[in-house]
Amino acid sequence: MLTKEDNELLTNVEKGSPMGEVFRRFWIPALLASELSGPDCAPLEVTLLGESLVAFRDTDGKVGLMDKYCPHRGASLFFGRNEECGIRCVYHGWKFDVDGNCVDIPNAPEGDAFKEKIHIKAYPCVEAGSLIWTYMGPAESKPPFPEFEWCNMPEDHRYVNKFIMECNYLQAMEGDYDPGHGPFLHTVLDGGPQVPQFNNNIQAQNRNRPTPENEPFPKAVGPRRQTETDKENWGRVENSDSGLLFVRGGERADGTKFASVSPWMLPIFPVAGTTAGPNTYSTNIRVPIDNHRLMFYRMRWSYEPIPKSEIETYKTDGWYFPEMIPGTFQPVKNVHNHYQIDRNMQKYFNYSGLSCFPLQDISMMEDQWGSLADRTQEHLTSSDFMIIAVRRRLLKVVRNMAEGTEPEEPWRPEAYAYHSGRAIKTEGTIDEAVAEAKAMALKKNIAGSVAV
Ligand code: FES
Ligand SMILES: [Fe+2]
Repeated sequence: MLTKEDNELLTNVEKGSPMGEVFRRFWIPALLASELSGPDCAPLEVTLLGESLVAFRDTDGKVGLMDKYCPHRGASLFFGRNEECGIRCVYHGWKFDVDGNCVDIPNAPEGDAFKEKIHIKAYPCVEAGSLIWTYMGPAESKPPFPEFEWCNMPEDHRYVNKFIMECNYLQAMEGDYDPGHGPFLHTVLDGGPQVPQFNNNIQAQNRNRPTPENEPFPKAVGPRRQTETDKENWGRVENSDSGLLFVRGGERADGTKFASVSPWMLPIFPVAGTTAGPNTYSTNIRVPIDNHRLMFYRMRWSYEPIPKSEIETYKTDGWYFPEMIPGTFQPVKNVHNHYQIDRNMQKYFNYSGLSCFPLQDISMMEDQWGSLADRTQEHLTSSDFMIIAVRRRLLKVVRNMAEGTEPEEPWRPEAYAYHSGRAIKTEGTIDEAVAEAKAMALKKNIAGSVAV
């Protein structure tokens, strides 16, 4: 559990709050690059860290991200005309360039002189990894761009989409380093794994079975009680230059040694699981819209081009990514309709009654004593050790920030090239397997960095 004060410290990202200022020392995704279709495209509303903004591409293709409200009398620039290298408020015609300079005040004779005094809040943007990123802190603290490897690869090496979640960023992120939930939430009742072909899975045949009236709820035989041996396999936590490493190592019954290393990088860059599949890595980024909502950027990336058929699967099969309400980033199955939970499926087939992997998690996240979890009510156990470790690291950073000490992690861009690593060895020790997995996770395989 946390005290009320610490919970507030970790979860409040509004401008001026200590965590709000921590977030404002990092580059964070603002939107998908594809949302701004080209020069002079229609402006979009974007809310980030509680701030109402508009985004657009100017005539030269440069991205603008600025205060939504015109400094004249507060009209919304979402309705503005994106014309000739700037956005013009349609109320009285004031115009602004992507850097926030007022370049025209046509509705008053003193406009030409007065415009020099007018600036609208505008944040620097950079396009990388199919995303538009922004930095919302003081200009003098602007760090270099983090060296995520997937930002330096061609577009066909990744698939990314986004959708809205209606909860605070922290409770959503905490699901990514929670080894206790997989054997329950993501499990079918006979103990078999859920597989990507879930929706056609032969195991799913029971899910449409007619429910005899009053048939008792069958007991799940798969998920079993966790033991001390399971606990050993959960692993341990180590510090890294950008956050933490979750390190696992062990020995299987046949004597094979295995190890895996997954990084969590401040403030919102966990690597979920080890790998999403053979040669495929997963990255989950949850950017706070405000304290009660976030935009979930869900990505698969690879050092090789991802086959088109695989991308098509991500887009259409409803297992890896939820189906969205057309024209929105809102999943069809969402908190307002209980994710359309299938109670028959839950009774006879799987734990959750849901057939979309991320929605299984999200259904547990969006309402934890509400959209902003009251962590004073928690009762944590040994299986929550990673969650505790991340909170401690975040608390250290946010307390420092409250006392005026800036975080160092944004100034270590090379420490953001970390990804997951995995080693399996038939010979040698567990420690050697761990060392191999760690070396793999920390090795930068793709050269390059994004200029800002
Ligand atoms: S409110 Fe925008 S120009 Fe007047
Ligand atoms: Fe999960």
